[in-house]
Amino acid sequence: MCGIVGFTGEDTALPILLDGLRRLEYRGYDSAGVATAASGALHTCKNPGKIAALTAKTETQPLPGGTGIGHTRWATHGGPTEANAHPHFDGDCGIAVVHNGIIENYRELRAALLAEGVCFRSETDSEVLPHLFRKHYRGRLLDAVRAALDEVQGAYALAVICADEPGVLVGARQGSPLVVGIGDGAHYLASDVQPLLPHTRQVIYLGTGELCELTPDTCHLETLAGGVVPLRIETAGQDEAAADKAGYPHFMLKEIHQQPAVLERLLGAYTQDDRVVLPELGGIAEALPAIRRIQIVACGTAWHAGLIGKYLIETFARVPVEVDVASEFRYRNPVLDSDTLVIPVSQSGETADTLEAVRLAKAAGAMVLGVINVPGSSIAREADGLLYLQAGPEIGVASTKAYTAQIMVLALFALQVAALRGMMDAKAVAQHLVEMRGLPGKVQWAIDRAPAIEAIARLPRYAQARNAMFIGRGFNFPSALEGALKLKEISYIHVEGYAAGEMKHGPIALVTDGIPVVCIATQGPVYDKLASNIQEIRARNGHVLSIATEGDAEIAEVSDDVIHVPPCTDAFSPLVVASPLQLFAYYVALALGRDVDQPRNLAKSVTVE
Ligand code: F6R
Repeated sequence: MCGIVGFTGEDTALPILLDGLRRLEYRGYDSAGVATAASGALHTCKNPGKIAALTAKTETQPLPGGTGIGHTRWATHGGPTEANAHPHFDGDCGIAVVHNGIIENYRELRAALLAEGVCFRSETDSEVLPHLFRKHYRGRLLDAVRAALDEVQGAYALAVICADEPGVLVGARQGSPLVVGIGDGAHYLASDVQPLLPHTRQVIYLGTGELCELTPDTCHLETLAGGVVPLRIETAGQDEAAADKAGYPHFMLKEIHQQPAVLERLLGAYTQDDRVVLPELGGIAEALPAIRRIQIVACGTAWHAGLIGKYLIETFARVPVEVDVASEFRYRNPVLDSDTLVIPVSQSGETADTLEAVRLAKAAGAMVLGVINVPGSSIAREADGLLYLQAGPEIGVASTKAYTAQIMVLALFALQVAALRGMMDAKAVAQHLVEMRGLPGKVQWAIDRAPAIEAIARLPRYAQARNAMFIGRGFNFPSALEGALKLKEISYIHVEGYAAGEMKHGPIALVTDGIPVVCIATQGPVYDKLASNIQEIRARNGHVLSIATEGDAEIAEVSDDVIHVPPCTDAFSPLVVASPLQLFAYYVALALGRDVDQPRNLAKSVTVE
């Protein structure tokens, strides 16, 4: 979603701001802008479209000054126009603001400001902020921001500069994340650590309800109530190189290829000889034998991983598991108590609905175990225990390596719960671990078949399809949902995923001449059932693309095309089929000339509901 950068120091701010915005591009955006303070005035440049266009525009109108703010906007209130792009200004253009999140009471605030004679230039909710800050300004920007935010309801992260205080950068956080970077004679501000990493690894994650006042040499933190906050300096751990494409044409392809290494890392981190060891469980470890049920909450791809987690935990540990889309969970008045373990699954750890689900769970007395990729993220901070995905920064908007990491971590957790509750003896756990240690190699095997997958994906019957279906059963029903989501979000083809057994209950009406149906038909207990579903599709002239176990001649005979995966235990097969499905989506999108890493309308981190 929207991204914020800010800088104050001796150097010219503009190149630092533009570089920071480029490092936030992965979050998804549709317009961008910058503003700097110099010689008692503010200077700005905004543009709908990409950072490259903004950069080109600033070449003809360079912005002076060593203090500035920048923003990538993902449109919510008002379309992606120059007027709606941030920064937004007060009437005299003396205060500039960039804002992430939503101001919930902006209508009332706007009406009150209009009644006072304020003129608005945009349709955004954000624009009320600079006008409010101006109203409260008495000579110190920090005080004006704090006083004005008392009137504001909603979730926000914001950065503010003022023509009258050219070396001052103010930030505030209520919900949406904001990180301060401590440099040498300089300070930085950003909505995640990526823009900071070329300059510093010394960071402060602003707490919710906190403000910062930065100058080149000073960093002052306080609460919205005015209380001073001590500086909690941490060292950011993420490798800057991780934000490079490393020679791949897209982050998505790079991240697909990283999956074997991520799985290997997780097995190294969370197993010891023939045991599962989950050191970050905290107090949850003692509670695990007694919990009565598990509730998984997540969105999108992470929800699909959660569905596979249910199958794994129920199969191995025999604990009932419910899986909810977080946006439904938080509004459906769920039954929760202290015997329930709630597991939010999230790459970013910032997804607004998942975060609210966590808060709801905690308020109801449930324990919360985060399955999270981004260290220091909001969910990571609020959970009682953690299982880090250790996948490194995921930049491609379409989640790939975080998904397989989520499945692997949930599989290891399922084994651990099974062992602690006496549902599986040490020998059985050890046997599963032997199989799991073979998974990185199997995933690599599947990825090595990328050229064959590309050749299939580029066939007109797939690349030029207007509609498509994915079907699977058992552990691979969620794989079908995920394969469909991956394809639809980056190719814009209309695709749906179904439990294969549901086809006769409606969806088979969609099967007509030439519709592609991707059938996940790996060897396992439901293989024969899936094979029958394939026959039913063939009988109605659908095109069958099967994801099948290598050497399976029977499926090859009834399929138009086959993508092979290596033999694998049914419970772990979602890990082995994931990369072929990701590669298929990637190559179809490529054939269609889509923006694979930044698909339209999508954002990497969905910090508003
Ligand atoms: C799809 C995708 C999204 C995310 C979802 C949750 O490829 O990436 O569906 O999975 O927005 O995001 P996180 O995992 O950050 O909570």
